Amino acid sequence: MNPTPTSVNPLLTAGPDATEDSVKEYVATELERVRARSFGLTTDVLDEAELTTQHSPLMSPLVWDLAHVGNYEELWLVRAAAGIEAMRPEIDDLYDAFEHPRNERPTLPLLGPDEATDYIGLVRRKVLDSLETVRLSPDAELLDQGFVYGMVVQHEHQHDETMLATHQLRNGDGALPSTDDLGPPSAPLPAGEAFVEGGPFVMGTSTDPWAYDNERPAHTVDVPSFWIDTTPVTNAAYRAFVEDGGYDQPRWWSPDGWRWRCESGKRGPAFWRREQGQWVRRRFGHVEPLPPDEPVQHVCWYEADAYARWAGKRLPTEAEWEKAASWDPVTRTKHRYPWGDEPPTAELANLGQVRYRPTAAGAYPAGASAYGVRQLLGDVWEWTSSDFTGHPGFCVFPYREYSEAFFGERYKVLRGGSWATDPVACRNTFRNWDYAIRRQVFVGFRCARDA
Ligand code: AVJ
Ligand code: FE
Repeated sequence: MNPTPTSVNPLLTAGPDATEDSVKEYVATELERVRARSFGLTTDVLDEAELTTQHSPLMSPLVWDLAHVGNYEELWLVRAAAGIEAMRPEIDDLYDAFEHPRNERPTLPLLGPDEATDYIGLVRRKVLDSLETVRLSPDAELLDQGFVYGMVVQHEHQHDETMLATHQLRNGDGALPSTDDLGPPSAPLPAGEAFVEGGPFVMGTSTDPWAYDNERPAHTVDVPSFWIDTTPVTNAAYRAFVEDGGYDQPRWWSPDGWRWRCESGKRGPAFWRREQGQWVRRRFGHVEPLPPDEPVQHVCWYEADAYARWAGKRLPTEAEWEKAASWDPVTRTKHRYPWGDEPPTAELANLGQVRYRPTAAGAYPAGASAYGVRQLLGDVWEWTSSDFTGHPGFCVFPYREYSEAFFGERYKVLRGGSWATDPVACRNTFRNWDYAIRRQVFVGFRCARDA
């Protein structure tokens, strides 16, 4: 259903000297693992009608995502990496996300679920066949350290998370397995905020083998001292803002945010409802009491920004977030994960779609960063105050529609990954982005303040 990783990327343990065979073996395992996940969100659980309908104008029909990940794999791993000619050049246009915005996709002559399954299976056969002979040569930037394979694996996982958001927006009974497992409980916190001493740190990466262009290059940023919350903001804390009339008072909102609040008529996070004096929330078709300790999910950037002002705080900048997550002020070194460089485990973070929900704020003490900040990776994506732009020295690689086409003031940066993010697509430097009005992502936030 949602298989957890069974092997570790040899490029992370042995570095660039990892043998070509070990990288190929890892690539094949990860391609298979992500595909099982994709089927678990589509053809394994929904019928043809459910797969081809558009559950929300914000999202694609699920069958579009399914064929799109296969078409992307064909473009990059069959044609670009292996130099094999196009299998179905006539369908490229249908699955080009730039040619057709999401609201248009249901009107396209898309492959049906069976056709899509056959097509992506055929692509996969060609990929695995050609993987045997392809040279992961340092002379070819795309193939060096298996980069393009890592890009395709991460791409499919990102679409799987998008598919989960589609499931969440879907009406009717839940189609996904429901578990009562809440995950590890909150553990006592030494403090609600951590102090991050001012000074330089290294932002981004130049060495992470499968990092995207937007994470590169590593560069020094001098960050003034600040305080940051040691956990994400909880449902209980956010409810206090709602019940304090937060949605009625323009003073907490930015001008754009207040306009959004008035035009949208929203009075609380998406999927929250009041029933007989109790707050409940709908999660994958199940209505349940609002869990007070869980990080709040499904708030837009404007709501996060307003809450922070009400709380006497602000959102962290992207640089503050990454410093709090990755920097060790004692050794002055940067780490791939908040807890260090070891791969994520069930004791360190809530990643990989294990329980279809975030864990209580304050869980995962072993996963805290050097500054004692918890749950930076996993549980919920976190809004930052920053617009999505290129790091200084940014170079497009390998195509401008992954990152550069989105640079500018329209998009806000989200960090840290959610419970729905796979470990292979999550690290301290990973950057996600969305419009300030979007709430369908598994996104919450934590607050910061000036020191
Ligand atoms: C990085 C999650 C914003 O889903 O729009 C998928 C990733 N790029 N296909 C998105 C992506 C191309 C992207 N996000
Ligand atoms: Fe895509």
